Amino acid sequence: MTGLLDGKAAFVTGGAQGIGLAVARAYLQHGAMVTIADVVPEALEAAKHELEREAPGRIAAVRLDVADEAATEAAADAALARFGRLDVSVANAGILVLRRALDLSLADWRRVIDVNLTGAFITSKVMGSRIVAQGEGGSVIMTSSLFGMRGGVENAAYSASKFGMIGLMQCMAAELAPLGVRVNCICPGQMDTPMLDRLFEQRGAEQGRPAADLKAAFVSRIPMGRLGPLPDLADAYVYLASPMSSYMTGQSITVDGGWQVG
Ligand SMILES: NC(=O)c1ccc[n+]([C@@H]2O[C@H](COP(=O)([O-])OP(=O)(O)OC[C@H]3O[C@@H](n4cnc5c(N)ncnc54)[C@H](O)[C@@H]3O)[C@@H](O)[C@H]2O)c1
Repeated sequence: MTGLLDGKAAFVTGGAQGIGLAVARAYLQHGAMVTIADVVPEALEAAKHELEREAPGRIAAVRLDVADEAATEAAADAALARFGRLDVSVANAGILVLRRALDLSLADWRRVIDVNLTGAFITSKVMGSRIVAQGEGGSVIMTSSLFGMRGGVENAAYSASKFGMIGLMQCMAAELAPLGVRVNCICPGQMDTPMLDRLFEQRGAEQGRPAADLKAAFVSRIPMGRLGPLPDLADAYVYLASPMSSYMTGQSITVDGGWQVG
């Protein structure tokens, strides 16, 4: 592996599993120091142990609810105290509630917006302000979604949160560009993660069909014929964090195996 991120420090939310864990692992492989943050302490500890074996001394973990601004400030301070710098912020924590808009409770709407959109705002603001204060440039990244660019059935809250994130990203990109900090989104397609597995299990139970059948039908709609491998997606996060993307800000990169054009 190249050391594209040698000496850099990153903060990744939702880092205990799925996309966040894959991004943390890729950053470590490219030489970075990484703090993973997550609301589930057991999964967070397990992820930390796993990564510690792979990159001793370059991983830290902090329990965090991304909707809590004061806790995020404290987590940022802890990450800075541990590694002495902060160069990359990845607002990735997210939840999915699938309901038709007419059946969506206000409580569920608020929960999704709170974690996905307000959480991304808090993370990007708190980490972004420290990256700006450091004065050496840096990269703020948010995980949006294909549903951040196009709506669909049962996705009202989730899609609204992910569209909102793209607006937030574009505004922050314009504001932070003169300060040397780049802000971009990644829009993953259908990735091979626990989030999607839970969805197939839930749908299978509702419809009395095996989750594996639902998954196979779903996968057949992806032009590349497979769910997205997390290491391949994580490469896009490495690109945005590294000098390889030094003239790029305010953009959304889609990584979807051709879903959008299929
Ligand atoms: N899986 C996909 O196919 C896919 C596609 C597009 C976008 N995304 C987005 O990618 C991101 C990661 O998704 P994933 O598939 O890895 O999901 P996941 O459920 O596997 O992981 C999400 C992580 O976020 C954590 N989290 C949830 N609420 C939190 C909170 N309030 N504070 C801190 N951490 C919290 C969870 O504990 C979990 O570890 C999400 O924002 C999701 O919307 C996923």
